[in-house]
Amino acid sequence: MEGYHSPQVDVEVRLNTNEAPGPPPLGFSQAVADAALEIEWHRYPDRSALGLRRALADLHEVDPGQVFCANGSNEVLQTLLLTFAGPGRSVATFEPTYALHQHLARIAGATAVLGSRDADFLVDVEQAADLLKEQAPAVSFVCSPNNPTGIVEPKDTILSLLQTVSSFGGLLVVDEAYGQFSPWSALELIEEEVPLVVTRTYSKTWAMAGARLGYLIGPEWLVAELDKVALPYHLDSLKQAAGLAALDFLGDMELRVSRIVEERGRLSSALLELGADVWPSGANFILFRPPGGDGDRIWQALVDQSVLVRNTSSWKHLHGCLRVTVGTPGDNDRFLAALTSALRNEGTQ
Ligand SMILES: Cc1ncc(COP(=O)(O)O)c(C=O)c1O
Repeated sequence: MEGYHSPQVDVEVRLNTNEAPGPPPLGFSQAVADAALEIEWHRYPDRSALGLRRALADLHEVDPGQVFCANGSNEVLQTLLLTFAGPGRSVATFEPTYALHQHLARIAGATAVLGSRDADFLVDVEQAADLLKEQAPAVSFVCSPNNPTGIVEPKDTILSLLQTVSSFGGLLVVDEAYGQFSPWSALELIEEEVPLVVTRTYSKTWAMAGARLGYLIGPEWLVAELDKVALPYHLDSLKQAAGLAALDFLGDMELRVSRIVEERGRLSSALLELGADVWPSGANFILFRPPGGDGDRIWQALVDQSVLVRNTSSWKHLHGCLRVTVGTPGDNDRFLAALTSALRNEGTQ
């Protein structure tokens, strides 16, 4: 099998992995440094990460037993699939979407069932219901806001998918890695009897991709199953402390989100002015198709000017498209200048 790749190139402006444009506040780093001095390094960490779970439960107004934490939301997704998928079972995704969902499903030994989205990149509920009823996947993924399109699914879609997966005993996973950018969250639908989990990450809005920490909120019975599958002591003491410390800087996170949303608006308008097709984004990145539609060539022309975006132009359904992360105003200006120059050389401007 092929590995999962997100190509890295040594450039000055990195707008390819949807990271936050800058680090968390200094007070956060100081709090983590203080916590490091208190850690009993010769002891194993708190196996159940109870302090962190309690704090996340408070944040989302749920019970600590409804929270499962792991090393990045990727490990949360992997643990879900090790627990509920596997040989003889299938896992559904709606393409184009986060490629790791189907990759992790295959690693878990399950069969990946690939549905597709409509022309606006939304899940078509009727088509989805037909596919799901026919295949009865153990796990169905919906990424909202969706990576790489940025599209937010309406609540009615999630409700309809929930009804469908409930009819055959499946589980719906809503990947909300970009949830804080979205006007609504499926967290409000979590209930003990509802087969739904919502995954979140510290990597994006919390500006902590380097910490590798993510979590899910779901029914208590489900979290208890995940706890049986996760490796003992998989979350180290420093990571637990960092996750806790971050929550004291909620206001900074919210301010960061609102600044990114403002910059996203500016970037979208500029891309439209340059003649690109631009999809409405509810995340910290924008999917666009440069005029002329030669995504590969424009991607290379950007790299030649030391600007890296994600090249999705060869992905099914995304012909000629690129995905750019919203960076600092300076990084965004560098990107726009490089794109303008690339288009001028191509004769489309
Ligand atoms: C939709 C989606 N889910 C999950 C992840 C993984 O995030 P983490 O860094 O928490 O593993 C990403 C990262 O890009 C993502 O885009």
